[in-house]
Amino acid sequence: MELQFHYFVIIFGLFYWFSNVFALHITNLNGSCFRCLCHVAGCDMSRGCSEGYCGPFFISRVYWVDAGKPTLPDDDPDRKEAFEDCARDYHCSIKIIESYMAKFGKDCNNDGVTDCFDYMLINYHGGRACSKPLMLTQSGRRWLQAYRQCRF
Ligand SMILES: *[C@@H]1O[C@H](CO)[C@@H](O)[C@H](O)[C@H]1NC(C)=O
Repeated sequence: MELQFHYFVIIFGLFYWFSNVFALHITNLNGSCFRCLCHVAGCDMSRGCSEGYCGPFFISRVYWVDAGKPTLPDDDPDRKEAFEDCARDYHCSIKIIESYMAKFGKDCNNDGVTDCFDYMLINYHGGRACSKPLMLTQSGRRWLQAYRQCRF
């Protein structure tokens, strides 16, 4: 009886681990891409929130809501500061971006691959308008320039 229970726990644990590892795999959204997305957004780890954007990745509340309101471990998405606290944290921000891209990730510039450049366009314009060029605004041009400094 007790032995069976242990097997159950182990199998369930493995299942849980696999589903986490594989469910959140998004093509080309890897460590170097996260470093790049952080770099283009300023990547200031001590950055709080200003003008509606929070943290090193410059995440807005709408983006967080569209991502399904990820939170710090054991936090409640309905808590008033849940968004701010997650978006100010590097690892929690990664959860937000992963969930957002799982929903909105696509080949924005139509070059046949969905890669970090597309994720950068999505972070700038939002998932719905990501095929707009970045050249049209000053902040867009700054992001483009910062993106060119990224190494993959
Ligand atoms: C990581 O992602 C970048 C861009 O999205 C890609 O160019 C690179 O090949 C990927 N690296 C690995 C190890 O998959």
